[in-house]
Amino acid sequence: MCGIYGYIGRNSINEVMGGLKRLEYRGYDSAGIAFIGDNLDCEYADNNEHIKRFKNLTVIKSEGQMSCLEEVINKCLPIGDIAIGHTRWATHGKPSVANAHPHISKNGKWVIVHNGIIENFEELKKQFSPKRFVSDTDSEVVAHLLEKYYDGSALSTLNKVCRMIKGSFALAVLTTYEKDKILVAKYGSPVVVGCDEEAGVVCSDLNSIKVGKCAFILEDNQFAVVEKGNVSVYDENLKPKKLKNMADCHREERGNLGNYSHFMLKEIDEIPRAITRTIEQYNSYEKMRTVLPLNVVRKIKKILIIGCGTAYHAGLIGKRLFEEIGIKSEVEIASEFRYNTFIPEKNTLAIFVSQSGETADTIKALSKCKENNLLTLAMTNVKNSSICFVADRVIYTSAGAEIGVASTKAYNSQVALFYLISSYFKSVLDDNAKDFDREVVKLLDVAKVISHNKIKPICQKVADEIYQSKSIYMIGRGLDYDLAREASLKLKEISYIHCEAYPAGELKHGTISLIDDKTFVFSFITQKMVKDKTQSSEKEISARGGKIIKLTQFEENNAFMQLSLPEVEEKYMPLIAVVYMQLISYYTSVRLGNNPDKPRSLAKSVTVE
Ligand code: M6R
Repeated sequence: MCGIYGYIGRNSINEVMGGLKRLEYRGYDSAGIAFIGDNLDCEYADNNEHIKRFKNLTVIKSEGQMSCLEEVINKCLPIGDIAIGHTRWATHGKPSVANAHPHISKNGKWVIVHNGIIENFEELKKQFSPKRFVSDTDSEVVAHLLEKYYDGSALSTLNKVCRMIKGSFALAVLTTYEKDKILVAKYGSPVVVGCDEEAGVVCSDLNSIKVGKCAFILEDNQFAVVEKGNVSVYDENLKPKKLKNMADCHREERGNLGNYSHFMLKEIDEIPRAITRTIEQYNSYEKMRTVLPLNVVRKIKKILIIGCGTAYHAGLIGKRLFEEIGIKSEVEIASEFRYNTFIPEKNTLAIFVSQSGETADTIKALSKCKENNLLTLAMTNVKNSSICFVADRVIYTSAGAEIGVASTKAYNSQVALFYLISSYFKSVLDDNAKDFDREVVKLLDVAKVISHNKIKPICQKVADEIYQSKSIYMIGRGLDYDLAREASLKLKEISYIHCEAYPAGELKHGTISLIDDKTFVFSFITQKMVKDKTQSSEKEISARGGKIIKLTQFEENNAFMQLSLPEVEEKYMPLIAVVYMQLISYYTSVRLGNNPDKPRSLAKSVTVE
């Protein structure tokens, strides 16, 4: 989702372009940069729809990938000592040059980039003639408000304007009134500010900012003034604030493709390592106790799990594992939870699952639980991400950086962590630490069972069969249904084939009327208890011509295609089976000529509600 990078110091434009590229993983559909300075090839610039010049403020924007913006920049060779840039993921207004950020005020003295959503933008726009607006965005109005309410101090003007905004924002602002600083404001959308001896930087996340001297993660209602070699942070009343310097904190290496053609395939191959690292990080009672002390665990009567997309699907499995050990458990989609009536129960532990740790819906749901005095635990893959600062406690998956938009190794690590946490709960409640040690060993063994190279050819074969489908269904019962839901999301998000997961027994209550002899149905049978029942559903599908692709460890041979899963203890089967489905989704996407790493319309990190 949108990314902000701003830089004051030498080669600011190169630095901003580099920063925006590091933020590319978030997903975007247009990009732009603004800088103060007059050095560029004027003849080229004056006749170019991508470039707007206002005295010594220049804005260059383009639709599409960063390479499009780069092409324009390489032709006009701008130089400036202060610049802000943005990658935009369209919310208000389609992807276009006009809607791309930065946005400039009418008098050309203010330019802004914005992440988040300004909910009252229609209302705010009424202060101006409609003719003033050149974009359909919610963000542009901020530039005009800064112009209108300028009071002689850039920071105080920004503070005044932010008080008018309803919604969420991370804003970086340049003004020709004070050419030596970048102003920053934060409410609800993440932003980090920092500096070196000769530079000042603003960036959407800690992993992408390049600074050695200081880096501060702004909190809501805070402002910052970024200058060469200095950053000052202020509260909402513009009183100076001291924040923890995070410059030396752990930063996640983004990693590179190596010999792979896509991050997604590389990340699927990394699953055994991701699970192993995650488990090893908490492989003893002592380590688990630092996250959840024994006295805390003993008091918990209910587990509430919240997340979005794949993280929510990991939570579905978590819920079953907690219920298996007798702890009442619920799982909710974060964006629904926020607006559902909530009846908090005493002694509930609320677990928030988020690979990125930046998902706005999940963080808002977390805040709601905190307001209701629940104990909160964040499960995230990104150290020092926003969620870590909001939750009471944090537990990390150690999957390593996940770049592909489709979550793969992070999901397996989240599920593995749910096995571990639920086993820890059981051991604490039974007062039997040995059980926990045994679970650690089992999980490390399960990680070894996944043998990618052996299964790739069959997954490719399945992709060759299904890639022309219009609609695909996936069925299972219990844990197999949870697995089907994740498998279905994976396939649809990167292949763009309509795909639905159904509880096997529910199909006959309506959806089966859609099945004909062109329909592929994936059937998951990994749980003995429901084997016969799911087989009956398969028969109903076959009777209507539907083609079953079955994933099972049981000996069966009655499907259009069958993928024989390696056998591990039943409860771990989803962890194994999902890898087949991740690979099938990947190969289907590639077969269709899509880029699985950057599926259309999707962002890696969804920072708006
Ligand atoms: O970073 P998060 O885990 O909070 O992200 C949640 C979802 O946006 C994410 O899992 C999404 O569904 C993925 N594209 C799935 O592959």
